[in-house]
Amino acid sequence: MKPRIKELLGTKPSEQHIVIEGWVRTCRDSGSLCFIELTDGSCLSGIQIIAESSLKNYADEVRNLSTGTAIKATGTLVESPAKGQTVEVRAESIEILGPADPSTYPLQKKRHSFEFLRSISHLRPRTNALGAVARIRSELNFAIHRFFRDQGFFQVHTPLITTSDCEGAGEMFTVTALSDKELGKENPFAQDFFGRKASLTVSGQLQAEIYALSHGRVYTFGPTFRAENSNTSRHLAEFWMLEPEMAFCDLNCDMEIAEALIQDLISTVLANCADDLDLFNRFVSKGLIGKLETACQQPFTRMTYSQAIQELEGVKQQFEYPVAWGSDLQAEHERFLCEEIAGRPVIVIDYPKTIKPFYMRQNEDGKTVAAMDILVPGIGELVGGSQREERLDLLTARMQEDGLGLEEYSWYLDLRRYGSVPHSGFGLGFERLVQFVTGMSNIRDVIPFPRHPAMLPADK
Ligand code: 4AD
Ligand code: MG
Repeated sequence: MKPRIKELLGTKPSEQHIVIEGWVRTCRDSGSLCFIELTDGSCLSGIQIIAESSLKNYADEVRNLSTGTAIKATGTLVESPAKGQTVEVRAESIEILGPADPSTYPLQKKRHSFEFLRSISHLRPRTNALGAVARIRSELNFAIHRFFRDQGFFQVHTPLITTSDCEGAGEMFTVTALSDKELGKENPFAQDFFGRKASLTVSGQLQAEIYALSHGRVYTFGPTFRAENSNTSRHLAEFWMLEPEMAFCDLNCDMEIAEALIQDLISTVLANCADDLDLFNRFVSKGLIGKLETACQQPFTRMTYSQAIQELEGVKQQFEYPVAWGSDLQAEHERFLCEEIAGRPVIVIDYPKTIKPFYMRQNEDGKTVAAMDILVPGIGELVGGSQREERLDLLTARMQEDGLGLEEYSWYLDLRRYGSVPHSGFGLGFERLVQFVTGMSNIRDVIPFPRHPAMLPADK
């Protein structure tokens, strides 16, 4: 494979002949020479190419190279006298591979707003910020698999098409092969592809539990879908969720693993993506690196839901939504807890059972469940998890209260009938993690192709 810019920038100058391909970021003509900054996506930095007027296509092509043009250059890697780089390329030939007409190419040298870039999602990964997001997202993805492999977890591929509503919120997209006309008939799904109503999954948790009770420690990581009509900067209709599930693990163990994971992922990005993080720290979210260092060096603050409500009641005039024991925490409350009260990520445990799904383990008080949410500055909820109800009688009673068909979920109850053990897990919203790590304020800018209510017709 030909070396890419990231590699070349880390090598010593030599007389060796190199070939380099990429896209022109800028081209500055200084009369007898041109300075071309070339990028290839391998890293944030471009490499400087010096093109002398002796090149045969200098006058008609090289000196007019415009932003976005794809070129192939050959030459040698020489020591650079310029600041901020140790090497540059002295070109012997430059060939245009793909022009980019500056009169129509939407990406020019100036900074574009993220809103504008959302309207050109096929071109936005070429920009510095969105390019950096993509590299950090990929690094986090890889680090997740590395972390779990090191801890003896197995990855389980849970299905995207399912008939169970894990979160019980009814926010599912129906999957059907029926025509509009057939859908209008009575009990249409009996005639449908699966012979019953099927949906896109909201969570792989219930299936992950199956494998936790055979393999001990597992995780699933993939797209999940929610038909919630939330037009916010932290909700998507299609998002990636990481869900570990551990047998012989109580709520404390669940929190320990989640905290160790998040700290490990942040340290990995701090160590491996320094240039990209520096860009976000300077232009997107001032103080980002300090915030990330705090998050990975200091333990997360822990409090119960009741303590959180008490803290918030003291300042409730600040909020749009009321604060009261029994209501769910809103993003503004979550952010206040970690930004103003703790100054770092917070784990809130023991939520009222009425606001949490059926599978969470009931606490002794009869009112709360062994839930834990991890809240982070700038975003709010990053993780939602719990110890699972492993007692058959209590789980059955809770499912009946929630109106869940016991027949439908008999396989889930079997996990409690046969060899039931305490077990726990959590779900981490991958885009929210990417938001936290990059400081990007809108979730639509940290996933390549966002899906959300009322998408533009031109969306890919
Ligand atoms: O809290 P949630 O709904 O939990 C579950 O789905 C559990 N079954 C997880 C488990 O215990 N295995 O979702 C988990 C996380 C949230 O904390 C949030 O980070 C993210 O998923 N999330 C979303 N991210 C983007 N857009 C949405 N619409 C999201 N809904 C949840
Ligand atoms: Mg949640």
